[in-house]
Amino acid sequence: MFHKLLLSILVCFSFQTFAANKNTTRVDSLLSVMTLDEKIGQMTQMCFSTITLDGSKTLDLNVDNFRQLIKQQHIGSFLSGSDSYAKWFEFITAIQKVAVTETPLGIPLIIGIDHVHGANYITEGTIFPHNLMLACSFDKALLEKVANVTAIETAPVGLSWNFAPVLDVGRTPYWPRFYETFGEDTHVTAEMGSAFIKAYQNVPEIAPYKLAACAKHFIGYSDPKHGYDRSPSEIPMQTLHEVFVPPFRKAFEAGVKTLMVNSGELNGEPVHGSKFLLDTLLRQQLGFEGVIVTDIKDIERIVKMHHTAATEKEATLQAVNAGIDMYMACNSFAFITDVKELLAEGKLSISQIDASVLRILKLKQELGLFENPYPSKQLLEAVNTQQNRNVALEAAEKSIVLLKNENILPLDNSKKILLAGIGANSKRMLNGPWSYDWLGAKEDQQPKTMRTLFEACKNTFGEKNVILSNTERIVATKDSKSFLKDARKADVIVLAIGEQPYSEFMGNINDLTLDADQLALVDMAIATKKPVVLVLMEGRPRVITKQAADAKAILFAGYPGIEGAQAIANILSGKTNPSARLAFSYPLGAGHTIPYNYKPSEYNIYWKPDTAQKWLFPFGHGLSYTQFEYADMQLSDSIVSATGTIKASVKIKNIGKIAGTETALWYMKDEVGSLSRPIKSLRHFEKVSLSAGESKTISFEIIPTEHLSFPDKNGKMLLENGTFELKVGNQNKKFVFKTQ
Ligand code: BGC
Repeated sequence: MFHKLLLSILVCFSFQTFAANKNTTRVDSLLSVMTLDEKIGQMTQMCFSTITLDGSKTLDLNVDNFRQLIKQQHIGSFLSGSDSYAKWFEFITAIQKVAVTETPLGIPLIIGIDHVHGANYITEGTIFPHNLMLACSFDKALLEKVANVTAIETAPVGLSWNFAPVLDVGRTPYWPRFYETFGEDTHVTAEMGSAFIKAYQNVPEIAPYKLAACAKHFIGYSDPKHGYDRSPSEIPMQTLHEVFVPPFRKAFEAGVKTLMVNSGELNGEPVHGSKFLLDTLLRQQLGFEGVIVTDIKDIERIVKMHHTAATEKEATLQAVNAGIDMYMACNSFAFITDVKELLAEGKLSISQIDASVLRILKLKQELGLFENPYPSKQLLEAVNTQQNRNVALEAAEKSIVLLKNENILPLDNSKKILLAGIGANSKRMLNGPWSYDWLGAKEDQQPKTMRTLFEACKNTFGEKNVILSNTERIVATKDSKSFLKDARKADVIVLAIGEQPYSEFMGNINDLTLDADQLALVDMAIATKKPVVLVLMEGRPRVITKQAADAKAILFAGYPGIEGAQAIANILSGKTNPSARLAFSYPLGAGHTIPYNYKPSEYNIYWKPDTAQKWLFPFGHGLSYTQFEYADMQLSDSIVSATGTIKASVKIKNIGKIAGTETALWYMKDEVGSLSRPIKSLRHFEKVSLSAGESKTISFEIIPTEHLSFPDKNGKMLLENGTFELKVGNQNKKFVFKTQ
């Protein structure tokens, strides 16, 4: 009791003394009075399932368990739950109250959540398309709006730490987290990711509350050699620096406050135990100063999966020495006892612990948690509004890619539509995974306020014009009779096919080809000779090459979110003119998944001419209901030096009959490099909205250090003399770079 009293006096005194000084001084003073147990507790993050009554993510608090965790283990952070606004509000208010008023130091908790596509763990949250689809919009302003709404719907319940965005570059569609990425391009990932971070961490509407984003998963997670989740990646260091590092670098420039580590191993080392990756590369070379959190239970994985440590204690030593600040232990206390023992044995030093605790306290301080630890009733007024839903509709409309259209879309509203496929009357196929539940909630747990594609089509084309076929029956019994009967009544068949939601390792597959039952349904529809429109609801491009040839139109919808159905219907009807482009390459075959910016090979010289088809739909592909013409590309100079710039411009004209938005993609090609250079690299993108007949000139400023350089295997940037080619639309021009 006396100890507690003394501490409180000390802390109050320290706070008053240092309140007027810098933030770090305040947390320094707090650190100076903390016990070792309190420090290690701050470095430990537990799952809410350890303090709920039934051990699930549903938020009914087991107060006794919680008091025990906070008073005996001094836990400083929790994560993961799923419930309504009311329950979140009550739960977080209760636990913060104990943390703030019943512990000697009163340090508030920091609570983490995976709001990876909207406030997806709150029952009334607005669900946006997943990142892969948002990337297809090539629209940073849209990303900012999505981040803003996500923040506005997350902050009110005291969830101040969002484990988003994923900055892993999606280089293999086999990886089951492909849809969480911003696609296969480094520049797009860096631009979209940093736009999200800046907007999410700076939201005036929620003042004085503040939020932290988390750049994840550092690094090399997304290109596992065999495609499975959390399986080893082997990435040459030059490629790592050129392809995978830039989105993180850009995130650090954008001020991201925290970072999560890749669960897998890279080049033979588990990333969680790699001093080279977490200290030399991340802290020293890239200069990241924020909090490094592990991924879930990953110290355990060092023992069980990677086998680079025989015991968890040894693994803890590896991870702390590598540089982690907080362990997402979830439901184990081994980390706490192991760190204590390692300190007693002199294998870890208290200064290492202090450095991590200081970062964590500083984060809490920056987020204003000491002043505002509780949820806010007032902020709750801005959640679940029509305005937020409108952003979800806009996001879906701008993300859906029209891949093919042989004079069938838009459908006029006198057409009779037969709808079939696993996504035709399903909400979970629209919201996808990480929606109320990690794997995607069950159909009956989806919001009542959202429409399925069937409902949205009836809303758009009229009740009488839309027939729904019982596809489950067709698939289960292979009975085509009812489908063929329905097809006779229809003018067009719309098939919503794809992947039932999956997350992480649950989505591992051995074959990228869409499953046989769904392909058989497409074949059956095509055999009717009625025009077939495919709507792809999937988290990665599943191979459909044979069927795609016979379909009249194809839309890539991905998992388009809570307003996804209406967005699809609006595009089918022509109310919305599509403007999205693929942010990934759609493969032709299951075994041949190459990105657009592959390195040159004999393929180009001898085997097939360069014009041979390599993808079903290439990166950057996407159609509109109008057409655009590029002309008159100009360069302000034909030679540039290291300190100069070249202004490139091009005229884009809408030569169709309706208004539309073009996505201009500027690519650069380095003709000769001391290291082999990609066939082309995207350097800039811009959206241009044009009414029918209108034209605009857009420009791009080439800055040599930014757009002409590339890293060597140590990350040192090389800027070499030579000829470069700039391409946009069907225009291209060459110029020369000379150091002087
Ligand atoms: C995922 C992370 C996520 C974490 C917390 C892990 O399984 O890999 O991306 O942030 O769980 O939910």
